Amino acid sequence: MNIGIFGTGMVGQAIAGKLAELGHSVVIGTRDVEATLANTSPNAYGLPPFSAWYKQQTKVKLGTFADAAVHGEVLVNCSSGVASLDALKSAGEKNLNGKILIDISNPLDFSKGFPPTLTVCNTDSLGEQIQRAFPEIKVVKTLNTVNAMVMVNPSLVPGDHNLFICGNDSDAKDSVVKLLKTFGWKEVNIFDLGDITNARATEMLLPIWVRLYGKLQTPFFNFNVVVGK
Ligand SMILES: NC(=O)c1ccc[n+]([C@@H]2O[C@H](COP(=O)([O-])OP(=O)(O)OC[C@H]3O[C@@H](n4cnc5c(N)ncnc54)[C@H](OP(=O)(O)O)[C@@H]3O)[C@@H](O)[C@H]2O)c1
Repeated sequence: MNIGIFGTGMVGQAIAGKLAELGHSVVIGTRDVEATLANTSPNAYGLPPFSAWYKQQTKVKLGTFADAAVHGEVLVNCSSGVASLDALKSAGEKNLNGKILIDISNPLDFSKGFPPTLTVCNTDSLGEQIQRAFPEIKVVKTLNTVNAMVMVNPSLVPGDHNLFICGNDSDAKDSVVKLLKTFGWKEVNIFDLGDITNARATEMLLPIWVRLYGKLQTPFFNFNVVVGK
């Protein structure tokens, strides 16, 4: 399948690398191709720059956000939450319309340091803002509650643990669950919470996620919902 990815950070790299490994044709989008390739500084987490990762990729192609949108039958939003609406606008609404958008973004504001705050919560969410701004796309929110490496390799966390999914289009969610299974997620561990308003709940897991990360000193953990009899 042709897949377009918005975002060159650790999530974009993890998802693009996995999809290419699975045989998909992937274009990963950025604001400025030349600037992204020229940047040789470590990222905000001290990890190697995109250019170092990209040199090792033989199958993933880099383009603009619009190139990624045009290429993808399915699209994945891996852009910074505070910039996702801008990134999608620059991809061009007509290039997005009618397509599934897997939204992994979180509305995290790091401008005042750690822990970050949420730019939207309680009565709205970034997933809903995206769906409202682009009514013709099928937004499916998922994967935003786990670390990038865990997204594409759930066995990094031992045992059963959960992923949440929500969105307004049932067929789109079914297609995304099929894709998630190819990443290694067990269908039984994927909770469909309902329509896109449920993105409020999964995005609001981030304040606890970042604090657990601070305590555990590893990003390789996840939530496991245990149901009583
Ligand atoms: N890191 C994780 O493990 C993790 C886990 C769960 C969810 N998430 C969510 O996944 C998303 C990606 O996270 P990340 O850590 O991979 O990367 P990130 O640093 O949050 O985002 C990087 C991407 O955002 C784009 N971007 C930044 N400012 C922009 C602007 N003003 N306009 C348009 N695009 C802009 C960048 O574009 P350029 O390529 O042009 O620089 C880059 O492609 C975030 O929303 C994050 O909350 C992350």
